[in-house]
Amino acid sequence: MTRNEKLLSWVKEWADLCEPESIHWCDGSEEENRILLDTAVKNGSAIKLNSAKRPECYYFQSDPSDVARVENRTFICSEKEEDAGPTNNWQDPHKMKKTLRSLYRGCMKGRIMYIIPFSMGPLGFDISHIGVEITDSIYVVTNMRIMTRMGQAVLDELGDGDFVPCIHSVGAPLKPGEKDRPWPCAPMEKKYITHFPETNEIWSFGSGYGGNALLGKKCFALRIASNMARREGWLAEHMLIMGVTNPKGQKKYFAAAFPSACGKTNLAMLIPTIPGWKVECVGDDIAWMKFGADGRLYAINPEYGFFGVAPYTSMETNPNALLSCRANTIFTNTALAPDGDIWWEGIGYDMPDGTITWTNEKYDPSSGKPAANPNARFTAPASQCPVIDSDWENPAGVPISAILFGGRRPNTLPLVYESFDWNHGVFIGSIAGSEVTAAAIGLKAGVRRDPFAMLPFCGYHMGDYFKHWIKIGKDAPDKTKLPKIFNVNWFRKDAEGKYLWPGYGENIRVLEWIFDRTENADVAKKTPIGYLPKEDAIDIQGLEEIKNNLSELIKVDKSEWLTELELVKTHYKVFGNKLPSELSQQLEELCTRLNNL
Ligand code: OXD
Ligand code: MN
Repeated sequence: MTRNEKLLSWVKEWADLCEPESIHWCDGSEEENRILLDTAVKNGSAIKLNSAKRPECYYFQSDPSDVARVENRTFICSEKEEDAGPTNNWQDPHKMKKTLRSLYRGCMKGRIMYIIPFSMGPLGFDISHIGVEITDSIYVVTNMRIMTRMGQAVLDELGDGDFVPCIHSVGAPLKPGEKDRPWPCAPMEKKYITHFPETNEIWSFGSGYGGNALLGKKCFALRIASNMARREGWLAEHMLIMGVTNPKGQKKYFAAAFPSACGKTNLAMLIPTIPGWKVECVGDDIAWMKFGADGRLYAINPEYGFFGVAPYTSMETNPNALLSCRANTIFTNTALAPDGDIWWEGIGYDMPDGTITWTNEKYDPSSGKPAANPNARFTAPASQCPVIDSDWENPAGVPISAILFGGRRPNTLPLVYESFDWNHGVFIGSIAGSEVTAAAIGLKAGVRRDPFAMLPFCGYHMGDYFKHWIKIGKDAPDKTKLPKIFNVNWFRKDAEGKYLWPGYGENIRVLEWIFDRTENADVAKKTPIGYLPKEDAIDIQGLEEIKNNLSELIKVDKSEWLTELELVKTHYKVFGNKLPSELSQQLEELCTRLNNL
């Protein structure tokens, strides 16, 4: 329990508004977790999976309308519209609070209000931040227990200190005697995922799914934390963090920003195909970075678990992810096999007869539909990852030597290239983009610009965010110690639409080049877009079948890039006069270099 006055009166205020049947303060214990999951099973919301195959694992199917983040229902409610910027939905915070208060009124009738104290980052360290989430969803409590450090220990740490208040309701009150639905939620037009950056508040209504409801993740650790980071001079980023050790035993850490569902989890825990190399995982989705006393940039993973995309995760593509969810894992919207195990497309073996789809129907091959939702997820404790880095909970973080940007680009972008300097690296991050994936609802197909992979997660004006990155470089305590910045693209295709690069564990060959470049090895040539690998600089021993693809993979095609430049100009127009002059200068210089090619 707590004596924190602010917390107690805040909980009372919300209980008065939401009118729950009762209030439960989560202690985070195993016993509490077991009781909650048993209740979910009894309610018909969850199924306990076969203990012989998946000990202590549970399976949930969401409502078909509630399967992913809802970007068009996500709002940054800063006092001034211009502070949210052109890439965020904005509404006046006072109006939004009024609208939401009327939705929250009585919204927890017939339900229990759970209070979840949680810490983003290891408990008890300066770098970490405490939040408290109010929710009426057992699914949220049990997922938050995997994704964050949560419970009584957090309250003890909080004392009478400050916290980020996070409100969540599925928005489905129960009338007396009314039977609950397995996955209660509100209709789309009543879903709201809102952020109040000036007061560090998060109010979420109507959705029970992932980033909409597990408020420590996208809402806090990215949208609110990006605002804190800007104010306080650090970085809150949509990045994996990985340790890479070479055959000589030298270890370096890389951070990488790829848009949702572009393989961050796969890269963060890849199994290298070149002997002697080792990859270890610090985090697969979010990095908070600050300069250390030695002038280097250090990163922590504020999360405690993985909320990974399940389909196409297999013992071939990502054994470490699959092994991370061998026990104590929650599966959402995968298919359910008749033996009480889960199944999904691309799991690496045939679908067993009698499999039930994520919409709870017997699988019908003639439907043409997948059995698992493309955005089906596993929620697994990070500690269960076989290659979790020994420093993954080090409150000092890990020193970052390289920052990688990337996305799914079938053309134009080479396999890898390196920026000339920090500002050029910021330029590369600012123009990053990808083909659209399944992680968000309501997007048009095609290439979507996703600067720094932060488009859905930057809690303020993206032009100011670019400025913040430039400032970080300018104010760095020692510019020679700044990480080098790269762009990677595993997804380039040939004229027939076939991938030119095998990806997965073979990506170590690109990481090797990056590793060497962080030591200034002479393995790069200067091109108009940046440094590219010299001929033969990417080790493809044992991968001779792609030898003929290499020139295509590391080429700079002038006409493709001139087309790209036009697209970048259109993309940049959106930021108006908030686009930092450093970036328009980068664009002009790239134009000149390409025209001279
Ligand atoms: C995620 C996302 O869930 O980026 O990590 O959508
Ligand atoms: Mn993500």
